Amino acid sequence: MVLPERGRRCSRLLTKTFVLGAQNVKGAVKNHSINEPGVIAGIMLSVLARAPSWAGMALPSLLLRPVAVVSVIERSMTHQEALPKLPVPPLKQTCERYLSTLEPLVTSEELAHTRTLIAEFLRSGGVGDRLQKGLERRARKTENWLSDWWMQSVYLDSRMPVPVYTSPAVVLPQMHFQDQQGQMRFAAKLIAGVLDFKRMIDNKTLPVEYLGGKPLCMNQYYQVLSSCRIPGPKKDTVVNYATGTSPSTHITVVHNFQFFILDVYSSNGIPLTVDQIYVQLEKIWNSSLQTNKEPIGILTSNHRNTWGKAYNNLIRDKTNKESVRTIQKSIFLVCLDAPMPRVSDDIFYSKVAAQMLHGGGSRWNSGNRWFDKTLQFIVGEDGSCGLTYEHAPSEGPPIVFLVDHVVKYMNKTEFRRAPMVPLPLPQKLRFNITPEIKKDIEKAKQNMNIMVPDLDVRVFNFSHFGKKYLKSIKTSPDAFIQMALQLAYYRMYQTCCPTYESASLRMFKLGRTEAIRSTSTESLRFVQAMDDQSKQDTEKLALLEQAIQAHRAYTHMAIHGQAIDRHLLGLRMQAIEDLTSLPEIFMDTSYAVATHFNLFSSQVGSKTDCVMCIGPMVPDGYGICYNPMANHIHLAVTAFNSCEETNATRLAKLLKAALLDMKSLVEQTLRP
Ligand code: COA
Repeated sequence: MVLPERGRRCSRLLTKTFVLGAQNVKGAVKNHSINEPGVIAGIMLSVLARAPSWAGMALPSLLLRPVAVVSVIERSMTHQEALPKLPVPPLKQTCERYLSTLEPLVTSEELAHTRTLIAEFLRSGGVGDRLQKGLERRARKTENWLSDWWMQSVYLDSRMPVPVYTSPAVVLPQMHFQDQQGQMRFAAKLIAGVLDFKRMIDNKTLPVEYLGGKPLCMNQYYQVLSSCRIPGPKKDTVVNYATGTSPSTHITVVHNFQFFILDVYSSNGIPLTVDQIYVQLEKIWNSSLQTNKEPIGILTSNHRNTWGKAYNNLIRDKTNKESVRTIQKSIFLVCLDAPMPRVSDDIFYSKVAAQMLHGGGSRWNSGNRWFDKTLQFIVGEDGSCGLTYEHAPSEGPPIVFLVDHVVKYMNKTEFRRAPMVPLPLPQKLRFNITPEIKKDIEKAKQNMNIMVPDLDVRVFNFSHFGKKYLKSIKTSPDAFIQMALQLAYYRMYQTCCPTYESASLRMFKLGRTEAIRSTSTESLRFVQAMDDQSKQDTEKLALLEQAIQAHRAYTHMAIHGQAIDRHLLGLRMQAIEDLTSLPEIFMDTSYAVATHFNLFSSQVGSKTDCVMCIGPMVPDGYGICYNPMANHIHLAVTAFNSCEETNATRLAKLLKAALLDMKSLVEQTLRP
C-alpha cells in the first residue's frame, strides 16, 4: 500500500511550492496560512514520569470543567476586566517544544537541519530575540496580542468559500413533523428560544463559564447575534449591529430562496410570543410558494474574491443594497428548507450534516442561505434540523451553549393560542437581478455543485460507551478519544500525521483557541505497539497510558497559553509587521510538514444530543468533531472525495474499532 508515502509526498510538494514562492514574504505567509494555524510543540516528559496506573487514583485534575454560575451585570463586567492577558511564552521553551513535536513527524535529517536553524534563530541578539521583543511590546500595548492577527490571518484574509472550508455546522436530532404546521411550530419555538437567550446577552446576565475553577472570557457570546461577515475583493470585514443607536430588532427568514424581514419585538419592545411568531411564519410560507426564484443567497457561498466582486456589483442597485443590509443587520437567520431526497436511516445524519454544511447544492437548499450571516438555524420540512455559523466571530462552545439553552427553552415551552394582536405582514426583501448578477449566480451555482459531491461526510453515534465509562476507568475521555483517532489513522495509513485539536484560550481576555498537537512520540509508540503480536498487553496498556499522559500534559500547556502554534504564528506576523524577511525556520520543510494537519479535530461537548461538523483543513485531510455524552459519543468525520487517499466512512469505521479495541485492552489487562 503506497498511501502513507503519497500523503507524505503531498506535504513535501506543498513545502516546495511554499519555499519557492517565498521571495515575497507577505505572499509566502499568505499561501502558507491557508492551512493555518501554524506550528508545533513538545511533550512534558517530566509529567510522564509521574503517570499513575490505570487501577490507581484519578489523574490530578489538569482539566477543566466548565461550570456555569449566574452573574449580574456589574460582576460580569468586573470579571471580564479582571481576566489575565494572553502571555507570550518564553522563546527558548517554544523552540524546544517545537523540536520535540517534530520527532514523530519528520526524518532524522530534516530534524537535524531544523535544529541548526533553531540554534541560529535563538542566537543571542539574533532574529528570534528581536521578534520576541516585538511580540512582548505588542502584548503590553494591546488587550490580546494575538486576537486581531488571528481574526485577520485565519478568517478575514482567507479567500476560500466559507461553507465547508471554514463554517462549522451543528446537527440536531431529527424531528418528526406530521405536516408543515409542525415544521413552523418548531421554528417558532426555536426563534423564541434564541430571543430568550438574547435577553441574557442584552441584560448582561449571561452565566460566566469556568474552566478548572478559572473564569472564562465571555466576549464571543456578544459577537454571535446581529453580526455578519461582509465580503471584500481582497479581504473581508465583520460588522455587529447588536448595540449602537438602533440595535437590530428583526430576524431574516428564508423560504424557497426568498428572504423576509420578521420583526420579533412588538412596538413596546417585548418579544413576540411563540404563537405570534408561528402566525408570522405561516404568512411568510404562504407568500413564498413559488419555487422558481433565483437563489440569490448562493452568491455568499462563492470564493471570497469572486463574491467580493459580485457583492459590489449586487449592491450598486439601491433596492438590492437595502435588502442586503437588512439581512446583515438581522439578529439571525432562519432557513425553512425544502425536503432533501430520502436516504436510508444509517446515513440520515450524514446527509443532514452535509445539508447543514453546504445546503445540498443549487437544486436543493444551498440558495436558501446567507452564508455570511454569523448564525443560521435550519429547519427542514423532512425533520432535518441544525445550524451553520460563520466562524470569524466565535468558536463552537458558545454556539453549542446557546443551542443547549434553546433546546431547554423549547422543551419547557408550551404552544399556547392567545388572543391575537394583528401584526403586519412580514416584508419580502426585493432583489433586482440584472444579467450580470444572473451570471454571478450561475457561476456560484456551478462552484457549489462541484463542492457538494466533493464533500464526504460520515456522522455516527458510537453507542458502546461514553464519558461515564471512561471516567470510571480513571482516564480522560478527551485524551482516550484522541488516542483512538491516532490508532485509526495509523491502521489506515501505517504512519502518523500532524494532528490538531482545538483547545480553548478563553482563560485569557479575548482568548480564542490554541492547537493541541495530539501526535507525539508517545502516541506513535502506542499505535505501533497496538497491533504488534510480539508485544504483551501489559506493555501496550503502559504505552497507551503514557500517550494519554502526554496528551493531557499538552492540553494543560495549551489552555494555559504555553503551547507553540500561536506563539510561532505571532513571531511570523511580527516579522511581516517589521517588514523583515521571514526567518529560515518558517521556510523549512519540517515547518511545512508539521503545519499540514491531516487530522483536524475538535471536541465540542453539549448537553443536547447533537454533533458539530467541520470540513478538513487540508485537501488530503480529515475534519473530525465529537461530543462525548454520558453513555455514548457522537462523531462526525469529513474528507474530500477528490483526494484518492481519504475516505471518511473508512476512517469512521476504524475509529469505532479503535475505541472498542482500546476498551478491550484496558479490560483484559486489568482483569484480576
Ligand atoms: N479520571 C476521572 N475523570 C477524569 C480524568 C481521570 N483521569 N481525566 C478527566 N476526567 C474528567 C474531567 O474531570 C471531566 O469531568 P466533567 O465531565 O465532570 O467535567 C471529564 O472527565 C472530561 O475531561 P476531559 O475529557 O479530560 O477533557 P475536557 O472535557 O476538559 O476537554 C478540551 C478538553 C481540550 C476539549 C477542553 O479543554 C477545551 O479546550 N475545549 C474547547 C474546545 C474548543 O474551543 N473547540 C473549538 C471548536 S470551534
